[in-house]
Amino acid sequence: MTVHETPGAIRANSPSLDAYWMPFTANRQFKRAPRLLAAAEGMHYTSGDGRRILDGTAGLWCVNAGHGRRRIAEAVERQLRTLDYAPSFQMGHPIAFDFAERLAAIAPAGLDRIFFTGSGSESVDTALKIALAYHRATGNASRTRLIGRERGYHGVGFGGISVGGLVNNRRVFTTLPGVDHIRHTHDPRNAFAKGQPEHGAEYADDVERLVALHGAETIAAVIVEPVAGSTGVLVPPKGYLERLRSLCDRHGILLIFDEVITGFGRLGTPFAADYFGVKPDLFTTAKGLTNGAIPMGAVFVRREIHDALMHGPESQIELFHGYTYSGHPAACAAGLATLDIYTEEGLLTRGAELAGYWENAVHGLRGSRHVVDIRNLGLVVGIELEPRTGAPGARAYDVLNDCFNRGLLIRVTGDIIALSPPLIVEREHIDTMVQTLSDALARLD
Ligand SMILES: Cc1ncc(COP(=O)(O)O)c(C=O)c1O
Repeated sequence: MTVHETPGAIRANSPSLDAYWMPFTANRQFKRAPRLLAAAEGMHYTSGDGRRILDGTAGLWCVNAGHGRRRIAEAVERQLRTLDYAPSFQMGHPIAFDFAERLAAIAPAGLDRIFFTGSGSESVDTALKIALAYHRATGNASRTRLIGRERGYHGVGFGGISVGGLVNNRRVFTTLPGVDHIRHTHDPRNAFAKGQPEHGAEYADDVERLVALHGAETIAAVIVEPVAGSTGVLVPPKGYLERLRSLCDRHGILLIFDEVITGFGRLGTPFAADYFGVKPDLFTTAKGLTNGAIPMGAVFVRREIHDALMHGPESQIELFHGYTYSGHPAACAAGLATLDIYTEEGLLTRGAELAGYWENAVHGLRGSRHVVDIRNLGLVVGIELEPRTGAPGARAYDVLNDCFNRGLLIRVTGDIIALSPPLIVEREHIDTMVQTLSDALARLD
């Protein structure tokens, strides 16, 4: 028997759970009391024991068009039957070019050169490497320093954990030299702010501090998530991203947005760059790119950056970088079908229609037990709980279990609960999410 054939048959401590070393999971705790998702359709999963679970997190911030989209499955099947795989090094296949053109057409103006990767982590490494290659190509080879931000999450490659600012991602592993960080933007003055908070634009001035410390001529790029997702939904203060942009311009530093979460409609616009009206020089995507159906990432690059590398002998490979699965045909097919769905159903802007309802609903949890902050933007919310004394993270973990047992999937990091539903969410789903959470919080020690 396999897990796939008999999802209901999986039991605690079953030997069939042993081989799989699960990512970002407390493996022993999980395997004592597994939470299994066996099927999915629309806004719901079906659990291993046959219960319907409302998806409050779009899987892992990626299933923006909802689950079980036939059109994506059929496009992938068709593509696999036509061309299952083709190398992308010194060879090309039509669907990768088609997909890049379609993405360029929805990108913020000028960010229309697309490099394909296999994941968000790969997109981050790719963007950082392009930044270094650009400076070298334009006679600024001393610009090698990378600047991230505290509480940033940029995946798990060595580049990503180095510019990232999550202690647990860094403490066990070595990180790249020549990396520094600006401060995060979380500020208690902004507790329970609705949308973008008032205080903290000045945190961007840390770029100036690092320029004074290291010298602008050593700094290649600043990378930030426009809205920090994985470290607990940190919404940028009003004016903050604008200030970052102008400081980077002043000092010749490239600005990279990591839009792995915010890309493809999460804030009610195609990209966060559109929402904030601030244009980065490069931005990373993954997740919603293929509706989570096939792993893939893409880096959007300002045309001048791409063009700056298109020099030298034509026989020369301009960027010595790429992945076996860059532009994988099946992933491109999934991405094209996903874009069709997004366009036809208006999902890249649907979040804007629901954002007001969402905001009111989630702020209704203010006053629930242990809730010390609620932060929201677009169709995202972070609900922060006061940690239990001596047991950080335990309280939110209890809420995760309680919600799962009562039919709602939420995500927790530390003691922060995050919700980010598929963009097909309806008002009654939002009501159910808030009610289930409210009940769970009321029962919480
Ligand atoms: C902002 C951001 N960057 C990068 C990543 C890494 O993406 P992946 O897990 O696909 O490597 C994530 C994943 O959550 C993310 O949220």
